[in-house]
Amino acid sequence: MHLFGLSVFIATAAVVLAAPSAPQTLTGAFDCLAAGAYTLCQNQWGAFAGVGSQNSTLLSTNGNKVSWTTNWTWAEGPNNVKSYANVIHNTAKGMMLKDIKTAPTNWIWQYKSESEGIRADVSYDIWTGVPQVGDPATNASSYEIMIWLSGLGGIQPVGSQILSNIEIAGHEWNLWKGPNANWEVLSFVSAKGEIRDFDIDLNKIFEYLIENQGVNSTQYLQAIQTGTEPFVGSALLYIESFSVDVKTK
Ligand SMILES: *[C@@H]1O[C@H](CO)[C@@H](O)[C@H](O)[C@H]1NC(C)=O
Ligand SMILES: *[C@@H]1O[C@H](CO)[C@@H](O)[C@H](O)[C@H]1NC(C)=O
Ligand SMILES: *[C@@H]1O[C@H](CO)[C@@H](O)[C@H](O)[C@H]1NC(C)=O
Ligand SMILES: *[C@@H]1O[C@H](CO)[C@@H](O)[C@H](O)[C@H]1NC(C)=O
Repeated sequence: MHLFGLSVFIATAAVVLAAPSAPQTLTGAFDCLAAGAYTLCQNQWGAFAGVGSQNSTLLSTNGNKVSWTTNWTWAEGPNNVKSYANVIHNTAKGMMLKDIKTAPTNWIWQYKSESEGIRADVSYDIWTGVPQVGDPATNASSYEIMIWLSGLGGIQPVGSQILSNIEIAGHEWNLWKGPNANWEVLSFVSAKGEIRDFDIDLNKIFEYLIENQGVNSTQYLQAIQTGTEPFVGSALLYIESFSVDVKTK
């Protein structure tokens, strides 16, 4: 997890390919693809720690919705994340947390197949910082806010668990906290198993962090990403639909 930053930095520097007219598959370790309101990236930042491959396919876009799949098989380095194939919203960023009115998000996903002993999460990765603009996992980052809708095989977020079974936005979470490079990681892990149809207002999470975890309300939202961090095993993850929108006051 500690090299996370380096890799995202590389990924954001990758060339974005032209938008597809039919489903298009990314096979290169740091390939990215324009995906409507989003950019889909492979981001295989931890691949050096294992052996395997991963391919991500954009299926469709429709307004603020995106549908995609990622097909992966990774072995060795059971405690190392191999990649963070993800979609990042192109414009839902650049506002102070205190100026957000709502941030509705809906994520419907499933594993079409998964191997025995799979170790992987399915997660949001949200970045905030003091500058209005900043790439994920850079010196512009103050907080990395993860939301784990799935965490299989006994994997754990950065840091240690500081709270259990807190209720926010109609779901129960275990909250993990710890430092990574120059930013703080706060990870909300579903306390009641996988959530495969997730529909909340992300502002409930932001408000909780401001009121209860000392996050400065003047922090700027710099990026919202969603994807998966595989450690080992193999799977076909299908994102039927994902959307996020940020509305300011
Ligand atoms: C996923 O990858 C496996 C192994 O390469 C392949 O057999 C399978 O056809 C792929 N499935 C999809 C939907 O890409
Ligand atoms: C990814 O694509 C490459 C190139 O087509 C292929 O060799 C590999 O088996 C694929 N991996 C998966 C997991 O589908
Ligand atoms: C962040 O890093 C860049 C590149 O290394 C450097 O130019 C910039 O001054 C740094 N900014 C801060 C606030 O440290
Ligand atoms: C919150 O951030 C603002 C702007 O960076 C700063 O002026 C203020 O001192 C911070 N407040 C706290 C309590 O850290």
